Amino acid sequence: MEVLHTGAELPGTLDSVRAGGRSVGLVPTMGALHEGHRSLIASAVAGCDHVVVTIFVNPLQFGDPEDIEHYPRTLSEDLAVCQAAGVETVLVPSVREMYPSWPEPPATAVTVRGVSEGWEGTSRPGHFDGVTTVVAKIFTRAGRCRAYFGEKDFQQLAVVRRMAADLSMPVEIVGCPTVRDPDGLALSSRNVRLSPPERSAASVLFRALSAGRAAVAGGERRPAAVSEAMAQVVDDEPLAHLDYAAAVDADDLSVPPSLDETSAVRLLIAARLGAVRLIDNCDAPLSPSSGPGAAAKVIDRKASEREGTCAVG
Ligand code: PAJ
Repeated sequence: MEVLHTGAELPGTLDSVRAGGRSVGLVPTMGALHEGHRSLIASAVAGCDHVVVTIFVNPLQFGDPEDIEHYPRTLSEDLAVCQAAGVETVLVPSVREMYPSWPEPPATAVTVRGVSEGWEGTSRPGHFDGVTTVVAKIFTRAGRCRAYFGEKDFQQLAVVRRMAADLSMPVEIVGCPTVRDPDGLALSSRNVRLSPPERSAASVLFRALSAGRAAVAGGERRPAAVSEAMAQVVDDEPLAHLDYAAAVDADDLSVPPSLDETSAVRLLIAARLGAVRLIDNCDAPLSPSSGPGAAAKVIDRKASEREGTCAVG
């Protein structure tokens, strides 16, 4: 496995991979790799000939200096994870190399309108511009490839898809299912910052999503009523403070007048436990036939690992 420290080295490596008729898979991360990242890497290794993982804690997407200061950094373990997973190239660029003018941000930023507004866009102003700018830089260096992103960050996945389509980037975006702990908590690098009582309370996000899903499965079609069903579960957990809970159109993340007017429904939730802010989401099938089976797919980490399921699109 080759470890590169400057993005400028990436095109040379990947051009020769493609020239040899081999496909490139890309997994952008901020490190502190856990099972969620590992499942993305496994899908990339299964679907592509040469896999690149990028590890870069991107200062441009953090509003709160506290958050970036406390962000876990575990580079040697991360490299071992990549090696064991069969990754060919890891790119670990420095802030100076990515943003030569730092702490002055780059003059050019990539902004995706619409789908990046609302939800995380409202709660974390500037966050998605930071994400799309760094991902655009990484895509530019990587060239033609398939790039793997987690559904865990559903809005980020939608925003990156939009960017790649609008800017005609030669990158196919692959969305991969959320990997969860047995109590339903979605794996996140931030979970290590939860105290033991906060950690037990954190399953409230999953419980709230399950309540929203049950409401939709039971025939509820009013988005506000589904949000309320989710909010109620969070309100009953003293350690958790709700930021938002919503039932939205899975494509553009807008709230429809009725859930019947969407092709697919997505439930979104964000809540704070102490100093840690967590987000999660799940689908909410409208037709009863896709009910319990689909639910199991969302929540069962073992099943998603076994299946290695990924939706291309
Ligand atoms: P990071 O939080 O490190 O996540 C890297 C990728 O792993 C993202 O696509 C994210 O959705 C996915 N992921 C995280 N937790 C997951 C889980 N429990 N199950 C499945 N996938 C999971 O997201 C970022 O980094 C950054 O914003 C980045 C895209 C790298 C740009 O800086």
